[in-house]
Amino acid sequence: MKKYILGMTLCVISINAGGFNPPMQAYINTLKTQAKQADTGFSDFDAKRGEKIFLSKHIGKRGTEVSCASCHSQNLTSAGKNPVTNKSIKPLAPSANPSRLTEVAEVQKWLKRNFNDVYKREGTAQEKGDVLYYIKSK
Ligand code: HEC
Repeated sequence: MKKYILGMTLCVISINAGGFNPPMQAYINTLKTQAKQADTGFSDFDAKRGEKIFLSKHIGKRGTEVSCASCHSQNLTSAGKNPVTNKSIKPLAPSANPSRLTEVAEVQKWLKRNFNDVYKREGTAQEKGDVLYYIKSK
């Protein structure tokens, strides 16, 4: 029995180390289906495209130049800070903050809000997937 529990535990740990947990993977799969519907040439999300989405600057909701990194820092393993409220934000990188990208509702809520902050619109399925692959790689 003990061996069985140990085996299960190791299995769960290895799932989390490599990929997304099952609910997050299901969300990623939904985004993939939507991305394919929007573009038949779509094959998979790409962390490199996600990096550009994350680091590039745009005139955001407040009328000033802003990027995702403005709040989350260019180094995702370090803490970020909201430049307006000065509130500290815990690191976005799952390697530094294992609770990141584990709760689908949380991820959906903040992607919607944060894309609006920076891009003044909701992200497309492909943009969301790309940026999640980028964050996951950190
Ligand atoms: C105005 C500041 C701000 C900007 C700009 C911003 N974020 Fe955030 N983001 C936050 C805050 C605040 C939270 C919620 C607090 C927390 O989770 O630490 C958050 C949470 C998140 C989460 C939730 C992660 C999780 O699993 O807990 C993701 C994903 C995210 N942001 C991605 C982005 C992306 C992608 C962009 C650019 C399109 C972006 N953020 C731009 C402030 C910002």
